[in-house]
Amino acid sequence: MNNPFVTNGYAGAKYFCDREKETKNIVQMLTNENNLALISPRRLGKTDLIYHCFAQPEIRDKYHTFVVDIYSTASVRDFVNLLGKAVLDSLKSKGRQSWEKFINAVSSLRQNIGFDMNGYPSWSIGIGEIENPAVSLDEIFSYLESADKKCLVAIDEFQQITRYNDKNIEATLRTYIQKCTNTHFIFSGSQRHLMGAIFTSPSRPFFQSVTIMNLPPIALEKYTEFVVKHFEEADKSIDKQVISCLYEKFDSITSYMQRIMNLLFVRTPVKGTCTIDMIDSTIEQLLDFSSDTYEAILYQMPEKQRDLLVSIALEGKVKNISGGEFVKKHKLLSPSSVLSAAKGLLEKDFITQDRNIYSVYDKLFELWIKRMYK
Ligand SMILES: Nc1ncnc2c1ncn2[C@@H]1O[C@H](COP(=O)(O)OP(=O)(O)O)[C@@H](O)[C@H]1O
Ligand SMILES: [Mg+2]
Repeated sequence: MNNPFVTNGYAGAKYFCDREKETKNIVQMLTNENNLALISPRRLGKTDLIYHCFAQPEIRDKYHTFVVDIYSTASVRDFVNLLGKAVLDSLKSKGRQSWEKFINAVSSLRQNIGFDMNGYPSWSIGIGEIENPAVSLDEIFSYLESADKKCLVAIDEFQQITRYNDKNIEATLRTYIQKCTNTHFIFSGSQRHLMGAIFTSPSRPFFQSVTIMNLPPIALEKYTEFVVKHFEEADKSIDKQVISCLYEKFDSITSYMQRIMNLLFVRTPVKGTCTIDMIDSTIEQLLDFSSDTYEAILYQMPEKQRDLLVSIALEGKVKNISGGEFVKKHKLLSPSSVLSAAKGLLEKDFITQDRNIYSVYDKLFELWIKRMYK
C-alpha cells in the first residue's frame, strides 16, 4: 500500500482506525441473535465499520454476510433487485454449491440470471424484469433462512425505504425479519430524523424491534495515535497539532480527515515532518479537484436554492433559517420562499438539519463556496 490513509472503502484492519468498542459490541449483538440499527451523520464511518465487523473471525468464518446499499433505490422493485444482486455477488466467491443453491431458490428470476465465459452467474436483471417483487422477496428470504450457514444482512442507507411509494414496505420487511431465525440484520442510515422515525415511533412497524446504536466520531486521541503510527511506519513524522486542527476544521468527520491526511502524507517526504502550515494549501488542492463538479451543481440548481445554499455556506451554521435577520442579511426573497428552497435542498441532501440548525452537508462544498463568494 503506497498510502495508509485510505479514502475509498474498507481496506482491512491495518488501515482502519479504532472502533474497537463498537466492533466488539456489534459483533456480540449480531452473533447473539439481535438486529441492529446503526445511525450517524454521513461519512463518519458506518459502512466501513460494517465491513470491519463482518471481517472479524467470529463472523467471517461462520456466517454468510451480505451488504446492500439502497441509497439509489426508489421502489420495492429496486430494493429486491439490489438485495438479490448483493446476495449473488457475495456467494459467487464461495463456490458453485453456494450460488447454485441461491439461484435455484429465486425461481421467479432464474431465467434472467446470465452466465459469463467462466460459467459464473451474473445478476443482469433490469428492474422491469422483476415482475412480482413480493414473490422475489419471499424467495430471497426463504433462501437466507435455508442457507448452509447463518446469514447476516446489512442494509445500508435504510432510511431510503421511507421514500418509496409503497408504504407497506416497512410492515412487509418487519414481518419477514421477525420470522427469521437463521438471519439477522443491521440497518444503517445517515438521516437521523428518518431513521429515528422508523425505529422509535410507536405507530411504525419497526418500533422497538432492533437495538439502536448511535455511532460517535472517532476520538481525537485515537485518530492521532493512528496517524502518528502510520507516519512513523513510513519513516515520516507529523506534528500532533496538524491532526487536532483538522479534527476541529472538519467537525471530526472521518472521511474528510482521511482525504486530507492522504494528501498530507504524500506531501511529506521520507524523514520529513508534516507541519500545520501545510494544511491550507492541501485543502486548496482538494477543493481544486472538485471545482468542476461543484460549479456544475450550482449551475444546475434553481436560483432560490442556490442563493440559500450559498447563504448557508457563508454562515456555516444557521439557526433560524426563515428568521428575518438571516433572510435580510443575505437578501433572500422571503421567509416562505426560504422554507420551500430549504425543503428542496434537504431532499437532495445538499443541506442537513439537526434540530433547528441548518448547514451544508458536504464540508468541502461549503469551503469551496466560501472561497468562491467571499
Ligand atoms: N475507522 C476508520 N478508519 C479509517 N478511515 C475510516 C474509518 N471509518 C471511515 N473511514 C473513512 O471515511 C470514509 C467514509 O466512511 P463510510 O463508512 O463510508 O461512512 P458512512 O457510511 O458513515 O457514510 C471511508 O471511505 C474511509 O475513508
Ligand atoms: Mg455509508
